[in-house]
Amino acid sequence: MKKLRSLEDLGVAGQRVLVRVDFNVPVQNGRVISDTRVRQAVPTLMELVAKGAKVIIASHMGRPGGEIVPELSLEPVAQSLKSHMPETDISFVGDTIGQAAKTASYALLPGQILILENLRFLPGEESNDYDVIRGLAQLADLYVDDAFSCAHRAHASIEGIAKYLPSAAGRLMAREIDSLSRALENPARPLTAVIGGSKISTKLGILENLVTNVQNLVIGGAMANTFLLADGLGIGTSLCEPDMVGTVKRIKVKAEEQGCELILPSDAVTAPALEAGIDTRTVGIDEVPADQMILDLGPKSVARLTNVFADSKTVIWNGPLGAFEVPPFNDGTQAAARQVAALTACGELMSIAGGGDTVAALEAADSADDFSYVSMAGGAFLEWLEGRALPGVAVLLDG
Ligand code: 3PG
Repeated sequence: MKKLRSLEDLGVAGQRVLVRVDFNVPVQNGRVISDTRVRQAVPTLMELVAKGAKVIIASHMGRPGGEIVPELSLEPVAQSLKSHMPETDISFVGDTIGQAAKTASYALLPGQILILENLRFLPGEESNDYDVIRGLAQLADLYVDDAFSCAHRAHASIEGIAKYLPSAAGRLMAREIDSLSRALENPARPLTAVIGGSKISTKLGILENLVTNVQNLVIGGAMANTFLLADGLGIGTSLCEPDMVGTVKRIKVKAEEQGCELILPSDAVTAPALEAGIDTRTVGIDEVPADQMILDLGPKSVARLTNVFADSKTVIWNGPLGAFEVPPFNDGTQAAARQVAALTACGELMSIAGGGDTVAALEAADSADDFSYVSMAGGAFLEWLEGRALPGVAVLLDG
């Protein structure tokens, strides 16, 4: 059994510790407008500060592609972090691996924090170049990775550096891996996965991996339309991917062989177009009018999901079940999310959700806080659902 190296494995007192965080947060007019990722980094940083480490924070923001893009500077994030750690001496340097960063890193005193400029201003960060790895290694004695949401990137500040310096996972990274492993590697069963969203083509790897592992696979969102089409049902003008029908049939055969029940909508809310306030109809799934689109689950489908969740011990969720951005087509997703949240809150269920749209949908349903774990990771969460080894995690494992 491989073991994740943790902060206990590093003697950090008096050492310069490079901490990779994910401060890829939205900034508008020089201000961070959603600071969840900043807040999530604080426990590891506080612990390192309390232990007398000299902390150097590194992160990317956006995709500047190796160019300096002033709007993607991490300076506003440094301001945001200061507001969450008012007692700590935090400074920002507009440099990553140059002389200014080196001088600032050597000048740090135990308990102080230095924030480097956006790693992706360096052309060699994403290509895992030796020059960037060496430059980062010169800034620090030890390396801590607290950015699970970047673990699918084999970049210099994630994979390369962890091979160069004594390294370990931070608290957020460790908690995320622990929660995700409990949900998919060794879950309490029955295990139900809820996969929504619009395109099968982007979630094919996930569906193929999940049918081999879960007891129930709930398919929602426009993805479900392609499954209905494959069953020969009329889906009106609904969004779908006709060229994926063959793939869907293959997934269905695999699910049957593996004893995985595929759960598709049995009724739907339809409308002539995706518009707020438009007239809607609720119809059986075999009665969708030719001029209407399927835009949400109907009440019978929601009731079925309620039963499925009540019989489950673990639920993994990624993707909305309807066109949730436009009311009232968020009703099905919200009702299902509230069921999972309620069962979790009374200890009946372990529930994990992840992905940008999913987190937004659960927050809109006031359900996110009751899920056992909500991951802020987008791409990394999806690759983990696919069963892929994440380079940023692999490099922190012993054994
Ligand atoms: C994210 O927001 O999912 C992470 O910060 C990774 O960003 P990236 O997709 O630009 O690598």
